[in-house]
Amino acid sequence: MQVVKTIAEARALRQKLGGTVGFVPTMGYLHEGHLALVKQASIGNSAVIVSIYVNPVQFSPREDFGAYPRDLDRDLELLRGEGVDIVFVPSDDEMYPPEFSSWVDVDKVTERLEGASRPGHFRGVATVVAKLFNIVQPTKAYFGQKDAQQAGVIKRMVADLNMGIEIVFVPTVRESDGLAMSSRNIYLSPGERQAATILFKALTLARQLRQGGEKDAGKIRWQMTSLIQKEPLAQIDYVSIADAETLEELNLIDRPALASLAVRIGKTRLIDNMPLE
Ligand code: PAF
Repeated sequence: MQVVKTIAEARALRQKLGGTVGFVPTMGYLHEGHLALVKQASIGNSAVIVSIYVNPVQFSPREDFGAYPRDLDRDLELLRGEGVDIVFVPSDDEMYPPEFSSWVDVDKVTERLEGASRPGHFRGVATVVAKLFNIVQPTKAYFGQKDAQQAGVIKRMVADLNMGIEIVFVPTVRESDGLAMSSRNIYLSPGERQAATILFKALTLARQLRQGGEKDAGKIRWQMTSLIQKEPLAQIDYVSIADAETLEELNLIDRPALASLAVRIGKTRLIDNMPLE
């Protein structure tokens, strides 16, 4: 496994790879969810490249960029175990030199949910992913279903800008009690960790209601909200039942829908989602 820090080194190594290249962009502090992406990339390609970069421009000044967990040595050890070929670990100067001034804005699919709650977030994500795609030139790139909106934004960007990269969605990996794996789970105290299971419980309730024949999205949102409100440590940012493709909120569930939510548990903001069809 080769670990490189500069764009020139990453490009040079990439050019030497034959066959298909699977790419997994990450912000590090890897967990089983990331490793599931890497495993899929290994199965589907001749070589695998992973990037580890905590991208400052996708965090607002109020968010946790400084505190975001980092442990490069552990990450590299985990990636060695997965047989990854190249790990790209750029610095901020490498990615955003002082003269940097080009941005990727994806409209519509970024307007709701995470886009509404975190202005500028998807501009930062789309920009860094476009840069990483240009550097790595992958055949396929792997994104987790947990960040469903992010995956949709990247898919839109790749189609609109004719990048010719196949975007593969990988199912969310969960702890045994249903909590979606996330690097941010490390922020949770034991009491908060217990409370955080409310996200999965609310999504499971939504799915059960839908499977029981409920088509009124408002009723499902209301039931999810009532359940979450019973958890004293939880504060709802949003609860959504939306069109799975466009993420427009639904009144009547007459097409594939996605239940998604963002909830603060103490100071930690967690997101999760579940397809309803
Ligand atoms: O999902 C993430 O970890 C990040 O948003 C990504 C895609 C690596 C871009 O910084």
